[in-house]
Amino acid sequence: MRILVLNGPNLNMLGTREPHIYGATTLADIERALITRATPHGISIDFVQSNHEGVIIDIIQQHQPSTNGIIINPGAFTHYSYAIRDALSALSVPIIEVHISNVYKREPFRHHSVIAAIATGQIAGLGWRGYLHALDWFIDAAANA
Ligand code: DQA
Repeated sequence: MRILVLNGPNLNMLGTREPHIYGATTLADIERALITRATPHGISIDFVQSNHEGVIIDIIQQHQPSTNGIIINPGAFTHYSYAIRDALSALSVPIIEVHISNVYKREPFRHHSVIAAIATGQIAGLGWRGYLHALDWFIDAAANA
């Protein structure tokens, strides 16, 4: 099984970016934790982070033939990128949307996700461990396939 973990704008700044909201864990820390969890299950993970909408769309399209699932935190694109939503819609594999913060407790513009309706599920507010929980879902789904 091969999973794409895709992070959008400003998530490269995790660890120093608003730590009271996003915590002190860096993206590299998250990637290490995911690899540690995935490897014993024979799951390989591709990690991509981009601050650019078009690059995120290119990555989704490039991985379409080879990926078995996507864990995506689209950052602020969550709230308005119909283009990323359309790129994800074209896939037939499960998509899990992850948010580190509980977006529903924050500013009103964060309460709506244009991605959620085409995602398999969404995890919000569980901190960086939300990525691990998303991966666990794939591990469990693969074990029970
Ligand atoms: C975020 C929430 C978004 O509203 C915000 O723009 C982000 C991060 C989260 O992980 O909590 O960049 O997706």
